[in-house]
Amino acid sequence: MLTTRELGTDDPALRDWYDAVREAHLADREPAWWESWEATRTYLARPAGRTAYRIVAAFDGDDLVGGAELSLPLVDDTETMSVVLGVLPGHRRRGAGALLMTEVRAIAREHGRSILQTEVTVPDCVAFESWCGGAFAGRQGMGSVSAEDRMLVDLPFDPARLDRIVAGVPAPDGYRVLSFTGPCPDDLAAEWARMRTQMNQDVPRGELTRTASVVDVDRIRLSDEQMAQQGWTKVRSVALTEAGDGAGYTEMFVSAHDPDFVLQDDTLVGREHRGRGLGALLKAANLEQLGALGGPVEGRRWLQTHTEQGNVPMQHTNERFGFRRVDVLHECEGPV
Ligand SMILES: CC(C)(COP(=O)(O)OP(=O)(O)OC[C@H]1O[C@@H](n2cnc3c(N)ncnc32)[C@H](O)[C@@H]1OP(=O)(O)O)[C@@H](O)C(=O)NCCC(=O)NCCS
Repeated sequence: MLTTRELGTDDPALRDWYDAVREAHLADREPAWWESWEATRTYLARPAGRTAYRIVAAFDGDDLVGGAELSLPLVDDTETMSVVLGVLPGHRRRGAGALLMTEVRAIAREHGRSILQTEVTVPDCVAFESWCGGAFAGRQGMGSVSAEDRMLVDLPFDPARLDRIVAGVPAPDGYRVLSFTGPCPDDLAAEWARMRTQMNQDVPRGELTRTASVVDVDRIRLSDEQMAQQGWTKVRSVALTEAGDGAGYTEMFVSAHDPDFVLQDDTLVGREHRGRGLGALLKAANLEQLGALGGPVEGRRWLQTHTEQGNVPMQHTNERFGFRRVDVLHECEGPV
């Protein structure tokens, strides 16, 4: 018989829950990054900050066959709740997904949420409705409101390509690029916070219900501290004007617990600094820094990034760096 149960962070079934949701999401797809077990158990065990988490598992008899992770924003977008839900490939089409969603909706109502959000990643050349996650989300009343390409490039990054890119993007007059790893230095923190806020405002998100929140220095510090606790090293480059103002930044994340992937996260060039090649310059500087890191990135096979399909400048930049699209991430939304 199928049942569901909520798990606490000290529940002995938590590791099986993590393995099942991971396996469900990675099955039948090109290689994809997934948050490590070490990082997951670290953030789940923390007292709730901007987000509270709830964990639900589905069982067939004693066997754990699937699960869901629920994120409840506590500061912005408190009408929403997002869910990552998966059922093991060998246990699908028997109602476990739908049963999990019944529990998910009950928790959403208990917390006064009216909008459900989820992410569905669909292999390239497969229609959204034809993929298990797309068909299931549609049946649950959630439709795609934004589509991002997930892209990969092989690591170590091709040195000849990097040389060509570096030769093709001379630093424009009036700017300097600084690269560093780890926490944001004190003298850059205020500018970093301003640029992160601008990033939130500028990044296209389709029709997704998501507030472009303001990021202050405390949040920068907290993110650096918490990411480090989860095993992440941030690899960063920033472009500064002669006056020391931030003109743009880019960052990659390297996990101590992931043998395969490095993540390309944000890249921003401030509006008044665009059209000068700073985006490519920053990415090239950061790749040079990544290559020089040695030990911590040894053996990593792919650099992964996501770019909204309509983001033409970033799509062009990705092409120049040799990224190839492997699948499409749909942000989905619907009523509770
Ligand atoms: C999506 C997923 C969770 C569904 O789990 P499941 O236990 O097979 O779901 P259910 O058996 O409860 O299916 C409920 C309904 O969803 C729809 N559905 C689910 N999988 C489908 C598929 N492969 N093709 C067409 N419709 C599908 C059907 O309408 C189904 O009802 P039916 O079997 O009576 O026709 C599972 O396929 C999975 O883990 N996929 C990978 C992770 C993922 O994409 N998650 C996103 C979920 S929002």
